[in-house]
Amino acid sequence: GAMDPMICLGLEGTAEKTGVGIVTSDGEVLFNKTIMYKPPKQGINPREAADHHAETFPKLIKEAFEVVDKNEIDLIAFSQGPGLGPSLRVTATVARTLSLTLKKPIIGVNHCIAHIEIGKLTTEAEDPLTLYVSGGNTQVIAYVSKKYRVFGETLDIAVGNCLDQFARYVNLPHPGGPYIEELARKGKKLVDLPYTVKGMDIAFSGLLTAAMRAYDAGERLEDICYSLQEYAFSMLTEITERALAHTNKGEVMLVGGVAANNRLREMLKAMCEGQNVDFYVPPKEFCGDNGAMIAWLGLLMHKNGRWMSLDETKIIPNYRTDMVEVNWIKEIKGKKRKIPVEVNWIKK
Ligand code: KG4
Repeated sequence: GAMDPMICLGLEGTAEKTGVGIVTSDGEVLFNKTIMYKPPKQGINPREAADHHAETFPKLIKEAFEVVDKNEIDLIAFSQGPGLGPSLRVTATVARTLSLTLKKPIIGVNHCIAHIEIGKLTTEAEDPLTLYVSGGNTQVIAYVSKKYRVFGETLDIAVGNCLDQFARYVNLPHPGGPYIEELARKGKKLVDLPYTVKGMDIAFSGLLTAAMRAYDAGERLEDICYSLQEYAFSMLTEITERALAHTNKGEVMLVGGVAANNRLREMLKAMCEGQNVDFYVPPKEFCGDNGAMIAWLGLLMHKNGRWMSLDETKIIPNYRTDMVEVNWIKEIKGKKRKIPVEVNWIKK
């Protein structure tokens, strides 16, 4: 009937993970499944990741249509960027094909903003300062003056990529983040590594190189893992704290694959307590890349009047968070920060 919620199918395929999700405009997730491409030892090969998407999307879509009848779908959403060109191209092609065969509108969405909006849907956060940390992205983002704006970001590689590259160097499995976390628990000594904060931005490639040299020099792997985490996560915590002072948001939300890390959560939680702001992390299923987040952002945009012609569905590999005209946020409800306190995060 006329009052039925809209149903959107979302396709995520910016990098190495293929995701399909189905979400209603009431915010109910009806289907959400991802399959990860396992890269060879040298790291992600963009062409192979794209082939993986081309093989995996049909399988996942078939499974999704066993849960929700394809005739119930009202909208097709897909990750338009940022991401790897070949992966994005396959994803957009699958989305256009679905849109044309089901005769339903299509909408391309920004992957980073999708992480934030699914986080708001699945936690109590209303207007958070978001730390988004994954294999491909590292950004501090907040909604200010009609746009999601980047307050700080990595100047080179993403923090997840830094962990994964180090793990590969010392022959740990991919993705290396969880293995480094495990080893870090047995670390006893803080190895001297570079701490690189430049204004609101950070950099990880020098830290990665120094960690590799420390390994070559015979430092204990557990100590290096521990130190790598302490340095990388302190840098992230520092710029997040400073962004709080700039924005006066009363909530911090941690999203992306690296959000799984307990040490990072612990540091941010302590910082938030010091700043008297609330701290949120979405459930694991919605922290990493997933199709539901793409579907949900597609619904928010479309319900508020955004339509796309096929011409507008070209991929945007360098899609910046602040390029998106936010049409779905009408009023800001989140709480504001109250008592600023100064804290030092790195303990030597
Ligand atoms: O790109 P991303 O959001 O993909 C999904 O997980 O969906 O996140 C992957 C990244 C990888 O770099 C991986 O090493 C990292 O998340 N990661 C972690 C942990 N679990 C995953 N990093 C640190 N500690 C963890 N426990």
